[in-house]
Amino acid sequence: MSQVNSKLERQVESILLKHKLKVSERTLKRFLNFLESIIDELTPELIEIFVLDNLTIGESYFFRDRKVFDFLKKVMQYKVEWNILSVGCSRGEEVYSLSIIARESGRNCKITGIDISPQRIEEARRGCYKFWSVRFLSEDELERFFIKNDDKFCIKSDYKANVTFVSGNFLTVPFSESFDIIFARRVLLYAENEELVVRKIYSLLKNDGVLVLGSGEYFPTVLKDFEPINECPCVYKKVSRKSSKFSDEKHVKDKRPKTSFISTQEVKYLKEAIAKNLENELALEPTIRIVEHCLENKILSEAENYLAILVRKYPTHYLVWKYLGVLELEKGNYEAAEKHLKKAAFLNHSDDEIWQLLHFIKGRK
Ligand SMILES: C[S@@+](CC[C@H](N)C(=O)[O-])C[C@H]1O[C@@H](n2cnc3c(N)ncnc32)[C@H](O)[C@@H]1O
Repeated sequence: MSQVNSKLERQVESILLKHKLKVSERTLKRFLNFLESIIDELTPELIEIFVLDNLTIGESYFFRDRKVFDFLKKVMQYKVEWNILSVGCSRGEEVYSLSIIARESGRNCKITGIDISPQRIEEARRGCYKFWSVRFLSEDELERFFIKNDDKFCIKSDYKANVTFVSGNFLTVPFSESFDIIFARRVLLYAENEELVVRKIYSLLKNDGVLVLGSGEYFPTVLKDFEPINECPCVYKKVSRKSSKFSDEKHVKDKRPKTSFISTQEVKYLKEAIAKNLENELALEPTIRIVEHCLENKILSEAENYLAILVRKYPTHYLVWKYLGVLELEKGNYEAAEKHLKKAAFLNHSDDEIWQLLHFIKGRK
């Protein structure tokens, strides 16, 4: 790497560090090459803006994961006043989608959106979108919620009432209120330390509050203090610290993530895929869920079959080694369990559960 590039690299890395963001090495390399091509135009402020706008992806659209909004519409019937926070709100699509359902449900809803990119927040305040952001709405919805302005769809002012946008890093911006619902969809993946984000969300949520993640997102850290809601698996309810998964040090084995949220349909699909030997169709996240389901219900031979396939397909994923460890623990093979769990800890040292299981084994040997 050239002199210029290494100086730039240090600058970019310190910005990432300052905002506690992470990016892959490949993305960083591509980005540095791009910056180098416009090096003469760059100021430190501009580099920071480029980092925030280019190293995080602002992709969003109205009513993303529609079933979540349908579910919340039902939940909103339970009370009149709602305070909602959207973390990583990008250009505001999620915030206005919430404003729309609140208004349609006749509820008083205060919604705050925060994003680390000042440019996206500016666009959110404007509330005018290209077709791409509204592509899944019906003609009727487009008519009801937007005013067409040339090729842009601008949200009607009704839906802007009670909506606030904040530009800044969720981890450092102070909030003086608590929330009923916090959205953090496709945001944890950018966090250098996702646990810090989850802890802040926990502290800002009211006791009966819920956290909404993106569909298909899976972060074991979340399961320490939140439980997925059966009806809508990407919605998690806050559990009190007393009954939180890691509060009772004595029963380490009981601290595995609760898995009751796996649907019978999902179990059926995965079992059929295994039976047909469709290895390539086995995505990691749902298969891990079925493994958890099998371990929870002591169907050890089935868990072993799934893990045998997963370890061939995802040999470097820590969850595979973690559950191989749990399986051996269930069978009473402490040595083998320890070996697998050490591998898991090597691949992801920030999963507390792995360390606690290792601690548990140490106490047994
Ligand atoms: C992929 S978008 C997700 C948008 C929306 N939540 C959704 O799911 O449709 C992720 C957004 O999170 C923002 N972001 C990432 N880390 C953040 C942080 N620590 N604080 C605030 N915003 C953050 C990025 O700037 C980006 O706009």
